[in-house]
Formats: sequence, C-alpha cells, structure tokens
Amino acid sequence: MATLSLPDMPQFPMPPMTATPSSGIRLTKEHFLIAVPVAVIAAAGGFLVSHYLSRRSCKKVKVNTSISKDSPKVVHSFDMEDIGTKAVYCRCWKSKKFPYCDGAHAKHNEETGDNVGPLIIKKKDA
Ligand code: FES
Repeated sequence: MATLSLPDMPQFPMPPMTATPSSGIRLTKEHFLIAVPVAVIAAAGGFLVSHYLSRRSCKKVKVNTSISKDSPKVVHSFDMEDIGTKAVYCRCWKSKKFPYCDGAHAKHNEETGDNVGPLIIKKKDA
C-alpha cells in the first residue's frame, strides 16, 4: 500500500503574539498621552463654538409691538371697586382694546403655537 505525504511547507518566522485591539492598531501609552489632551481640547472647543453660535442666533424679540410705543413703560392701574363683577385683561399684547382682552390671543396662539390667554378677575359669586 502506497502512502502519500504532504510536501514540506516553508516555515516563516512569526512575530510574538501581543494583546492588540481587534482593528490591529496598537495603542501605546504615548498615544494616549497625546490623544487625551487633543480630545479634551477638541471637546471644549466644540462646546465653546456651539455656545457662541447659539447665543448669536437667539435674537431678542419685543413682546409689545403696537401699544403705547411712545411711552417708556406701559402701565395700567384699576381700583378694585371700579372693576365690577368681572374684568378680563390681555396678556398677549395683541388686543385692540388693550389692556382688556378682545380674543386676539386665539389667533396669536393658532399662528405661533403659543398658549397665552387673558387674566380674569372676578368676584367669587360672579
Ligand atoms: S387678546 Fe390678549 S389675552 Fe386675549
């Protein structure tokens, strides 16, 4: 009976096995000493840039666009005795009857998605 034998395979020198990440990239202590400060500086820089840009894009908007604009401050004062049984005051600054509510807040809420409404003052039995 004839026997077959495999030819001799060439032997290549193998490097010693080391613990490396699955990507095959070997990270050393020196890599971390550089990578960590770079990552921290990049994160801090990103935060500062985003904070700066968000503050620039937040434009301050006036609430009062039409009422007594020639006055430095819009103030109304009422005596409790004069209110009667019920008074409805505007808080959206859109009423044509300001300081009283005329229902303009409904249109404002519909257009903007806001949820403002009037201040209602009434006697308990009203
Ligand atoms: S109109 Fe302004 S709260 Fe009603």
